[in-house]
Amino acid sequence: MRRLYLIMATLFLFLVVAIIGYSTNFSSVSILTDSNIEEEKQNNGQEEDSGYDSSKEEETQDQNEIEDTRDIEERSESEEQSEKEQTDKIQDEHPSLPDGSFTIGSQGEGVSDLQGALRQIGYDVPDDGVYQTETAKAIYHFQQAHDELGNDGLYGPNTRSMLEERLASGEKMETENFLKLELPNQDPGNQFPPRGELVKDPDDILVLVNKENHLPAGYTPFDLMEPDVPFPFDEDLPQKLMRAEAAEALELLFEATEKEGLHLFAQSGYRSYNRQREIFTWNANERGEEQANQYSARAGESEHQTGLAMDVTTHEVNFRLTTDFADTAEGQWIAENAANYGFIIRYPKGKEHITGYQYEPWHLRYVGKEVAKEIMENNLTLEEYLEDH
Ligand code: DAL
Ligand code: ZN
Repeated sequence: MRRLYLIMATLFLFLVVAIIGYSTNFSSVSILTDSNIEEEKQNNGQEEDSGYDSSKEEETQDQNEIEDTRDIEERSESEEQSEKEQTDKIQDEHPSLPDGSFTIGSQGEGVSDLQGALRQIGYDVPDDGVYQTETAKAIYHFQQAHDELGNDGLYGPNTRSMLEERLASGEKMETENFLKLELPNQDPGNQFPPRGELVKDPDDILVLVNKENHLPAGYTPFDLMEPDVPFPFDEDLPQKLMRAEAAEALELLFEATEKEGLHLFAQSGYRSYNRQREIFTWNANERGEEQANQYSARAGESEHQTGLAMDVTTHEVNFRLTTDFADTAEGQWIAENAANYGFIIRYPKGKEHITGYQYEPWHLRYVGKEVAKEIMENNLTLEEYLEDH
């Protein structure tokens, strides 16, 4: 019996120890878990769902935080939206500025956009899509008001970004007197810069280019092409080119001479500003500036830059440009018939005081049939014709 008591007491003891042990273990796991959570929270700012009230409070807090964050996100999204709307509005309110660069004589939609933008900030410039004196002066004036811009009167990426800022600010410029500015020399390396006025519309078929009216340095005709006529050389040179309308008329003129058994050759058509500058500088160095300018034009002052002129010749004068050409059958035919194809002899004999150049029976200028006939039949120069029209 005593043995039985002993066994039962031992079993009871085991039971008590087991119960205490279980409960101690549970607490310690629980404490351990909390402390882990605490540690993890401290380390990572994260949290684990422990099932305790305190955690629920944290969860609610956290939920609020999440909602707050969502609020912030929603708020910033809507702020972004309204900022974008504002930017779009500003862009709608001012014309977009073109990329690229413009120089005197540049033209097209980009120039129109630029002119719209300049007017928006107070410059009274034309809306003709041509980068001419007024537009260049407005750009030059704007550049002078911004130290960080080069002052050349030409539009480029730096001027573009300053203009962009100005447009966005909505502030106008103080523009009075901007037209009185003298534009800087666009061709500083040229010993013999062109004189007189810049021509207003270089693409006009009746454009007058002479010692009083010059083309912009950057002007190149937009529709140059090579006429299908004989040249006394084979190389593909720019001097073979003419503007489309003039090139087609020259082909018809050449066809007519060939039908007459004549042999005309085209010697020199389009010349760039820079090419003309080389030619004139060479001539001026050879003969002196004044004498050279009797037969050779300064850069900007040559009709060859228009793409509307062609010097013609024949083998009888060894393909040279000489007054002897006037005495050849080809030269005589030209004097009598060129007008029927839209061409005039641009520098006639006896009109040197008007044209500013000596007689050139070889230099044909396209003006269109009607005008050519009136000029040739009345023994006029283009200067005289344009004065009366
Ligand atoms: N020979 C003409 C004048 C020119 O140089 O354009
Ligand atoms: Zn010529």
